[in-house]
Amino acid sequence: MASVRMKVDGVVYEDEVPARRLLVHHLRDGLGRVGTPVGCDTSNCGSCTLLIDGDSVKSCSVLAVQADGTDITTIQGLANGEWHPVQKAFQEHHGLQCGYCTPGMILATVDLLKRNPSPTEDEVRHGLEGNLCRCTGYQNIVKAVLSAASEMRGEGAHKGSFQDAPEQQEVSA
Ligand code: FES
Ligand code: FES
Repeated sequence: MASVRMKVDGVVYEDEVPARRLLVHHLRDGLGRVGTPVGCDTSNCGSCTLLIDGDSVKSCSVLAVQADGTDITTIQGLANGEWHPVQKAFQEHHGLQCGYCTPGMILATVDLLKRNPSPTEDEVRHGLEGNLCRCTGYQNIVKAVLSAASEMRGEGAHKGSFQDAPEQQEVSA
């Protein structure tokens, strides 16, 4: 067992955890923070993505002990009194269907827009390639990300159509 101390969505937790426990399991099973889903056993799907010290990380690829001393934001802590602009954009542009990928998509998007506040459509698709969605065909997700970027730059929500692909075209991220 090892001692870990981490802040999760603004709350500090101190626990003893098995040295080999994954961070996502510690959050879900140890702390009851079940807003972070597990979609695979292979670190491929991205559904478990959260922010560690502001950077997006797949929490199934990190041991809980490696997160000792960090500040973690899950989807449950992203809204701060009101929806984060990325959450709003996903809602307004229907960037989800079943919603299983959505926490990871949103948190990966927050990190993407922090690094690149004015992404092109291609850069959005490339930036989210580690997050898989089996429902939406990605079109509305990309639309939501471009809209959130525009909103966060203070330009209002993105209204235009894609530059690189017709709206109806089915394109993988
Ligand atoms: S659960 Fe699929 S990448 Fe973490
Ligand atoms: S909305 Fe169902 S997996 Fe993305």
